[in-house]
Amino acid sequence: MQEKESKKIIGLMSGTSCDSIDAGLCEVYPDLSVKLIQGINHPYPEHIRAKIFSAFRGDISIKELCQLNFAVGRCFADAANILIGEFGKPDLISSHGQTVYHYPYDEKLDNISLKSTLQIGESAVIAKETGCMTVSNYRENDIANNGQGAPLVCFADEKWFLNKYVDENGRYKNFAIQNIGGISNVTVVNSDTATFGFDTGCGNIMIDYCVQKLFNQKYDKNGEIAAEGNICESWLDCLLQDEYYFIDPPKTTGREYFSPKYIENILKTAPSEPKDIIATLTALTAKTISQAYERFLYPSVHIDTCVIGGGGAYNKTMMKFLRMYLPNRIELKTHEDFGISNNFKEVMAFALLGYCNYYGISSNLPSCTGADKRVVLGKISLP
Ligand SMILES: Nc1ncnc2c1ncn2[C@@H]1O[C@H](COP(=O)(O)OP(=O)(O)O)[C@@H](O)[C@H]1O
Ligand SMILES: [Mg+2]
Repeated sequence: MQEKESKKIIGLMSGTSCDSIDAGLCEVYPDLSVKLIQGINHPYPEHIRAKIFSAFRGDISIKELCQLNFAVGRCFADAANILIGEFGKPDLISSHGQTVYHYPYDEKLDNISLKSTLQIGESAVIAKETGCMTVSNYRENDIANNGQGAPLVCFADEKWFLNKYVDENGRYKNFAIQNIGGISNVTVVNSDTATFGFDTGCGNIMIDYCVQKLFNQKYDKNGEIAAEGNICESWLDCLLQDEYYFIDPPKTTGREYFSPKYIENILKTAPSEPKDIIATLTALTAKTISQAYERFLYPSVHIDTCVIGGGGAYNKTMMKFLRMYLPNRIELKTHEDFGISNNFKEVMAFALLGYCNYYGISSNLPSCTGADKRVVLGKISLP
């Protein structure tokens, strides 16, 4: 077996929020720990971002999608080149790309499975524009092996949290690693069962949409709008009845589900005060997380600590509601408390997946994705 060395890897990622291209230069070590050297949030040019949102809505032609794949690749390369300008070339680049559609459901046509996913941001363009080997398209091989292609970050969560931290009795702590991006997903890292994970439901996606619509702002900075509103309990109860929250894991969701149409529909029964809408949607994310734990975690796993990451970790009202809904015995932390950036955690995870691809290490966790077996993820583009 090839002797492993530390590698400098730039991770590139843009999530369902499409808030920015996150780029992080990382050092990945043979023990699969990752150190972030420098991270940047590189904004999409305005019209490209608007086109991506059109793609989410299914409002663009095949020609435009084809063009957008290459254009997003150029934007990702620009983000990487900012880091390269400062630090020089890494050993490789690992790009998650921009998901425009994720449909891991077993519909069939002519008895042929239609399970699929599409991340754009052409990696041949990234490789050419940066001069670096680029690994991309991580979800496909998991889906080809009958998985859902997500969540993939669970692999990193397991490496970084399993059997790493002890409580006062010297027992390894069990973690719910909770990401709150556009969508919210949890990884359960514990010494009792295999690591498992699933999407708990909406994260910031509906908050962002409504803050944009009602306050003409991109997002609810620090949860300030929600802090001034009141939770409308009857509307919250109604939103909590959505069938997604009751489905047994493994399960994933996305913009295809929490779509503009879905949000416009729930707004028909919303309270009249805009701040109350934002407060209630913030409570919804926190409450669906706590209910998911009650339904799917506590019956089989003792959880010591919940670790929040993603943009939601910066929403103070969201954190306050989480503290309110989670049992007191569970300590609430953010990734920063463990020396991992909230902002660049996913970028670090994809740097790790790039490292695994390079060394032929399988990096999907079938207990999280539902795949038949462990496989090496990612495809390589050379400059
Ligand atoms: N300071 C902040 N206060 C409140 N919300 C924030 C803050 N920073 C980021 N967010 C929220 O987090 C979202 C981005 O989170 P991120 O983890 O990047 O998600 P994704 O992976 O979907 O891109 C933003 O759209 C916004 O809703
Ligand atoms: Mg983001």
